[in-house]
Amino acid sequence: MTASAPGPADLREECAAGISRYGYFDEQEWLRHAFLAVPREQFVPRRVWLPKAGEDGRYPVLDRDDQPEQWLRAVYRPLTALITQIADGAVRTEDGPTSNSDFTSSISCPAVAVQMLHHLHPQPEDRVLEIGTGTGYSTALLGERVGADRVVTVEIQQALAERAAERLGALGYRPRVVCADGEQGWETGAPYDRLLSTVGVREIPPAWLRQVTPGGLIITPLATPMHCDALAWLRPDGQGGGGGGLIDTVYFMKTLSQRPRKPWRELGWPRWPDWSLTVTSEGSQRLRTRDR
Ligand SMILES: C[S@@+](CC[C@H](N)C(=O)[O-])C[C@H]1O[C@@H](n2cnc3c(N)ncnc32)[C@H](O)[C@@H]1O
Repeated sequence: MTASAPGPADLREECAAGISRYGYFDEQEWLRHAFLAVPREQFVPRRVWLPKAGEDGRYPVLDRDDQPEQWLRAVYRPLTALITQIADGAVRTEDGPTSNSDFTSSISCPAVAVQMLHHLHPQPEDRVLEIGTGTGYSTALLGERVGADRVVTVEIQQALAERAAERLGALGYRPRVVCADGEQGWETGAPYDRLLSTVGVREIPPAWLRQVTPGGLIITPLATPMHCDALAWLRPDGQGGGGGGLIDTVYFMKTLSQRPRKPWRELGWPRWPDWSLTVTSEGSQRLRTRDR
């Protein structure tokens, strides 16, 4: 690294300033503190793929040892997720760039990790269930708010769960890291006040609604027919159901058993709504759903 290159703490500050523009730290100062307290670079493997393919159609590999400055800058780019696994490990970073886009694990981009926690709005005494531990980065951010001993995080891949637990432990965070199918939640630790899924679903797993306390909050990416996921919120009603809404557009990999697609109509999506579009001669544009 060159003498003048900014270090991790400088880049973390710069990244926090970038995220501030989205308003996710507004009225949640704890979140800014948490973001500044967690050394994100310690959760990123030495070699990762960038999520944007180059002109050759392949995802480039960044190696911390060969390109330390570029690697560190990528770690702290607000809107860049870094891909840590492709095709469940069948493709290896050692083999260089790849055109395979079957991403199966990543460290979520800083802005989205913060956005999810902003909407989760955990309180200091909350018990939190996280689904999709990945690198453990979001787990550490949660630990900064509620105390890591009040966090259970579930990862379906044993090797990833073990590596995340090591990274977290090295930094003094001791959440319960469970290797299991997160679609089943984790009954032993229930009830939870909050559930954060950092892996997408097409259908909300019923166990989540049972294990989160009535009036608690679930935040999860939900697949939509619009070629993106929606960040969804849901409050369990204590009867196994719940109500909520969609907050923003996000993009996430899907839980292992929900990778295969189901017809949207079976997942409760309405037919494509009938929108009318009017543009005035002054250029003002208005979209409305038509009355039927
Ligand atoms: C986007 S990554 C999580 C990112 C993580 N929050 C981070 O910042 O490092 C999604 C993770 O969910 C895991 N996953 C997929 N299906 C799962 C399931 N059914 N239960 C638990 N984890 C699952 C994947 O192995 C992957 O590591």
